[in-house]
Amino acid sequence: MKIIKSIQELRDTLKTFRREGKTIGLVPTMGALHRGHASLIDASSARADITVVSVFVNPIQFGKNEDLDKYPRRLEADSELANAHGASIIFAPTAEEMYPNGEPETYVRNKPLESLYCGSYRPGHFRGVLTVVAKLFLICLPDFAFFGEKDYQQVFLIEEMVRTLNFPVEIVRVPIVREESGLALSSRNEYLSEEERKNALSIHQGLLAAKSAYLAGERSVTKLRNLVIQPILLNRGSVQYVEIVSTSTLEKKVGHLGNEKLVILLAAFFGKTRLIDNIELEMV
Ligand code: PAJ
Repeated sequence: MKIIKSIQELRDTLKTFRREGKTIGLVPTMGALHRGHASLIDASSARADITVVSVFVNPIQFGKNEDLDKYPRRLEADSELANAHGASIIFAPTAEEMYPNGEPETYVRNKPLESLYCGSYRPGHFRGVLTVVAKLFLICLPDFAFFGEKDYQQVFLIEEMVRTLNFPVEIVRVPIVREESGLALSSRNEYLSEEERKNALSIHQGLLAAKSAYLAGERSVTKLRNLVIQPILLNRGSVQYVEIVSTSTLEKKVGHLGNEKLVILLAAFFGKTRLIDNIELEMV
């Protein structure tokens, strides 16, 4: 497996593979790789001939008071994990390589959706994500790109970008990987104290409670939201948002739910650590 830091070198290397008729899968990450990322790399290795894992802590998707500086960075361990799961190339550019002029002049945005849910608490976050993902797509020209459903709004916005800007790439969604306890794997789980980590299990418990109530026929948005919120509050968490939204439009639902595919999206804090999670509600 090769570690490449320059855009030009990556382009040249991938061009050779493409000429040989090989397909390319891209797995964009910010590093600190865990089993969640590994399942994306597995999916890519199964689907494409060449898997590129990008490891880049993208400064333009972090707010001023967010964790850009303390975000975990460990390229060596990441390379080992990526290699073990079948990656051929790690692309690990510096911020200067990706943004030679500092803050970019050109952004990709989704005006109506970038300021909902996570976006309303993280202004500028999704335009930072879409811009870096667009750059990675244009640098790698992958046949497939793999994204986790853990970041539900993110993968939705990337699919919208690909659809509206006609990127020639197939987006593949990969289901959330959880610890046995139910906690969704996240690089940010490392910030949690032992007690916070235990308390954070209430997120998945609440989501499961809401899902079983939904499957048992509960259709009140207020009641279902409360089933998610209560366990979190009882476990010393604070809820940033809990919303039930349409999986096809991300439109927020109020009142009584109709017959369509829905997902509960949430963000909650345990101590200073912000966690996100979601669960789909299947139609009955
Ligand atoms: P990062 O948080 O490193 O996540 C990289 C990819 O791994 C994302 O597609 C995310 O949804 C997926 N992922 C993380 N935890 C997961 C889990 N428990 N189960 C399944 N998939 C999981 O998301 C980003 O980086 C960045 O915003 C990025 C897209 C790389 C742009 O900078």
